[in-house]
Amino acid sequence: MAATDAAGQLEQLRQQVRYHDHRYYALDDPELTDAEYDALYLELRQLEEEHPDLVTPDSPTQRVAGVAGSQFAKVRHRSPMLSLQNAFDEEEIRAWDQRVRGIVGDEVTYVCELKIDGLAMSLAYERDEGGARLVRAATRGDGQTGEDVTANVRTIRSVPLRIQPLDGLPDQFEVRGEVYMPLDAFERTNRQMEEAGRQPFMNPRNSAAGSVRQLDASITASRNLQTFMYTLDPSGPAGSQWDVLEGLIEMGFRVNPNRARFDTLDQVIAYHDHWLTHRHEIGHEIDGVVVKVDRHDQQLELGFVARSPRWAIAFKYAPEQAQTVVEDIVCYVGRTGVLTPVAKLRPVMVAGVTVRNATLHNEQMVNEKGVYAGARVTIQRAGDVIPEVVSVVEPRTGWMMPTHCPVCGSEIVREEGYIAHRCINPFCPAQQLERLRHFAGRGGMDIEGLGPATLTQLFEKELVREPSHLYRLTLEQVRDLDRFAEKSAQNLIDRIEASRTPPLSRFLYALGVPEVGEATAEVLAADFGTLDALREAGEERLVEVDGIGPAMAKEIAAFFAGNGSELVDHLLEAGVSPRGEKPAGPPPEGPIKGKTVVFTGSMERMSRPEAEALVKQLGGKATGTVTAKTDYVVAGPGAGTKLEKAEKLEVTVLDEDAFFDLIGR
Ligand code: IVH
Repeated sequence: MAATDAAGQLEQLRQQVRYHDHRYYALDDPELTDAEYDALYLELRQLEEEHPDLVTPDSPTQRVAGVAGSQFAKVRHRSPMLSLQNAFDEEEIRAWDQRVRGIVGDEVTYVCELKIDGLAMSLAYERDEGGARLVRAATRGDGQTGEDVTANVRTIRSVPLRIQPLDGLPDQFEVRGEVYMPLDAFERTNRQMEEAGRQPFMNPRNSAAGSVRQLDASITASRNLQTFMYTLDPSGPAGSQWDVLEGLIEMGFRVNPNRARFDTLDQVIAYHDHWLTHRHEIGHEIDGVVVKVDRHDQQLELGFVARSPRWAIAFKYAPEQAQTVVEDIVCYVGRTGVLTPVAKLRPVMVAGVTVRNATLHNEQMVNEKGVYAGARVTIQRAGDVIPEVVSVVEPRTGWMMPTHCPVCGSEIVREEGYIAHRCINPFCPAQQLERLRHFAGRGGMDIEGLGPATLTQLFEKELVREPSHLYRLTLEQVRDLDRFAEKSAQNLIDRIEASRTPPLSRFLYALGVPEVGEATAEVLAADFGTLDALREAGEERLVEVDGIGPAMAKEIAAFFAGNGSELVDHLLEAGVSPRGEKPAGPPPEGPIKGKTVVFTGSMERMSRPEAEALVKQLGGKATGTVTAKTDYVVAGPGAGTKLEKAEKLEVTVLDEDAFFDLIGR
């Protein structure tokens, strides 16, 4: 086939597949049978294979485009991504309605939407010859800056890679909404996690968030995430929220069908109550409804308070509750030796899941609530929180923590001024095992296939007692474990091997330094850059770090001076080598060092935040304004006033290729 014919036919096939993807994934209303669709898709794939030079990045076959890299670049949102004020009962929603009417008068219409329990996402589109294409997907982050998760979000089939924008939208615009995991996908994911010996996700929202932040986009693709979109920024031709929703549907986005528009608050309350009763029939979790003033001119008049609009409110559902009986109270020993009492419950369904345990936190809490073995209790489960006991029918006090560790038999102490009871034996097997789980688990070294069940076996056979021992495991040793065969054993060995060079922040978290959670680990890694620098830092240097208080600094310094020192040495001896997250010492000599660079217009090879991060890494400064002190302006298609200013000030202007040539990439 001549190349021009092929190009035409490919475009046609792509359009057909896009159309049927949209019917299936966005509208839930397919026209083709699965077999017909598969045949069409295959035809496209085959023709593309014959003409690899004609494959376009927005082709439906190119959703899994690769790997996000070792970290996600930061992305500044076009306008901040806001949060919502909450109303928890009728009184609060009525008060809000009164405030709204007080400002815009009585002529007000409300749009009601379900509050999807997922994670907020912003999709940036840019116009080109064929319409507009998805250029970036970013998480909400702190509202101003999020993380670039484009490679992963591209794999979500209801996210269109190419659209026909509404007339009146500018060249660049963002569509925002929610990415969530449907309940059936959640159950499937957790089954797979358990089969792979990994810790299952707590709830669909965590699972969706974890799936979006995968380093390997093909994993995201396998998780069957879904979307509902509800914001258009800027809103272009839409004069109301209802218009926005219709416009989004017209452009091919998936919009929640259970939306409604009302003139009175009584109708809003009836909508809220209706979905409270029917919330388990829709295949995904919601945690309330969102009420929005429909008209944009009224929204403008209402404005914002702090970081939430006055024109919208989340009318939340109370956590769901159920009654059951406490069969026993047992104590778990955590990684730091802290004992946590847990109520073993007669199994009961709450909010669609079977609950068997409820946390009781500590001895004081058990007695404040009056919990004991045999007590009849009301428990509740709120979204992501571990189920807890709300009240006891006939409360009794007098429950006491055991005096000796249920695992190692050592004495249990309660330190002066602390609520928690602790097993003080650092060699307590329960603590050792928990430390191993933490090390290998999510947020830490994240070694797939090394879940609690496998670690327990390795620990009980005394093959692994501390993290460094993982790196001396042999194929034979793993193969001999329950549920392992030659191939799965080799896979695990390979994954352990591959975990030898973790990013410094993950390594720090994995070590289990007291007080150091994921966020603090990132702060430390960014500040110190290398493990050596952090190990050498004393308490005084640590408190200088933004976000590290004196108590934390003390714990961290004590860890590296004490038990942690040996743990780290053993890991380094075993060949683990954490990767620094900024160049140690002065940045390398190069053409960008000490220079100020401004990016303007769009870029092809990397996102602007990535390019800016690169400049920083090379010792330069990336800024947003062109001045006489600017050394380079890197201008791409669509560059405007910044380019004019650069020319006026005679600043060197480079195009994208010239910039990459300059830095030798
Ligand atoms: S509107 C300025 N609509 O709730 C208004 N938010 O607590 C921006 N959410 O971050 C949000 N469903 O992640 C809106 N139908 C819906 C929503 C929704 C879920 C989430 C969203 C937002 C959070 C605010």
